Amino acid sequence: PSDFALRGKAAAKVIVLGAGIAGLTCAYELGKAGYDCTVLEASDRIGGRSLTLRGGDGLTDTTGERQTAAYGEGVYFNAGPARIASWMVTLDYCRELHVPIEPFVNSNASAYVYTSGMKAPVRFRTARADVYGHLSELLAKATSQGALDEAVQPADKQLLLDFLRQFGDLGERTTYGGSERRGFAVYPGVEPGAPLPPPPTLSELLGYQLAPALTFDLSADQAMPMFQPVGGMDMIVQALADAVGRDRIKTSYPVTKIVNVPDGVEVSHQDGTMKAAYCVAALPPHVLAKIPGNLDSSVLAALRVAVPFSAGKLGLEYGRRWWEQEDRIYGGITETDLDIGRIWYPSEGFHRPRGLVVGYYNFAGDADAYAALRHPERLEKALAQGERVHGAKYRKDLLSSVSVAWANRPHIEGAWANMPPSALLQEPAGRVYFAGDWLTHLVAWQAGAFESARHVVTSLHERVLKEN
Ligand code: PHE
Repeated sequence: PSDFALRGKAAAKVIVLGAGIAGLTCAYELGKAGYDCTVLEASDRIGGRSLTLRGGDGLTDTTGERQTAAYGEGVYFNAGPARIASWMVTLDYCRELHVPIEPFVNSNASAYVYTSGMKAPVRFRTARADVYGHLSELLAKATSQGALDEAVQPADKQLLLDFLRQFGDLGERTTYGGSERRGFAVYPGVEPGAPLPPPPTLSELLGYQLAPALTFDLSADQAMPMFQPVGGMDMIVQALADAVGRDRIKTSYPVTKIVNVPDGVEVSHQDGTMKAAYCVAALPPHVLAKIPGNLDSSVLAALRVAVPFSAGKLGLEYGRRWWEQEDRIYGGITETDLDIGRIWYPSEGFHRPRGLVVGYYNFAGDADAYAALRHPERLEKALAQGERVHGAKYRKDLLSSVSVAWANRPHIEGAWANMPPSALLQEPAGRVYFAGDWLTHLVAWQAGAFESARHVVTSLHERVLKEN
């Protein structure tokens, strides 16, 4: 981004380990300032977790299982990061690197909520109308009966009641008896439209346990709208790599040793040893901690505090966009308390013949359970769950699928790493610097990787200017 520049001349050699967002951004920013960077990437592709799969792409896991995506032309699966909030620096890099973006539908009133307390899935708009309605009725009752007289000033009582009537769509009543906000079984046209079955009682509604589904998009790191790069999340990776220079990036190049020496860092790999004035280690902390070398034991101890966290995703390609045609869902997310976690509908390619639905995006124990299975079993399990939301059509028109268990990805070994903020790792260990989302308050966001990279190149550059 244009407000960010390393000032003063420098041409020191820097070896960057890892070609994910953090590593590529370090090489990009240092390169702009005249540094001579080489990026070593252990895997056979760049991007790290910013992985977009298209037809023909292969995946081999640490378990030895191999999958090959058979997606059709124009269909892609963002198997890692897939959404960007408007306040994130990620969008500034998209602007600077000329990566076009488009809206990502993060919440959709037409998508479903489905929990074990429900007989059938309910649209978000319906669930929200019922929650607002019932809570407003309760509060209105308590207010009218004087139960809140100690908390609500007499002058505010009428204001509160007016607010609740509108908030819950109670009308002139103070009871909730349903509302057109819930939507229709058949939407109005020339005819008035057919209503949904009556709303649940308060007791039924509480049994649905709707709070997680109705509040996830309120957290500050989620948003509505969010954004995605047109054509796939790896468009950011490709643009960064082009800007760095492809000849500076070596893939399938695992590092076997990292040694601080008085005037530089020696990095060993399959072809021998490479030396540079500085090194930026931009790989996961739990992976870095396993690489031999002479990092101080306190640094290794700090790295080992990191706890890799599991997440998994399944990309289902369908030959018919039934979620648009039949469910009238154009992008967005169905939230469940099933082991699939959630179902994502594509925010791109509306009305095209094909489309890609994320059949699960789950975390922790649910992700571990799926990671322990092979793809065909994962698929079957997820289809059985998705069928509970969408019915028999969930199995029809399915063309192909790929699933990613981040705990099983070579050289990554986790979806992200949870660790308390480490002052030690914000500083270089000798001439080795550390970069990654795991060093920020934006764990599990590309923005964390960008912010960390900017912090590292700034402090590295200040040091170089001082030493020269
Ligand atoms: N950034 C990821 C996502 O949007 C993971 C994440 C989820 C991070 C929820 C924070 C909160 O799904």
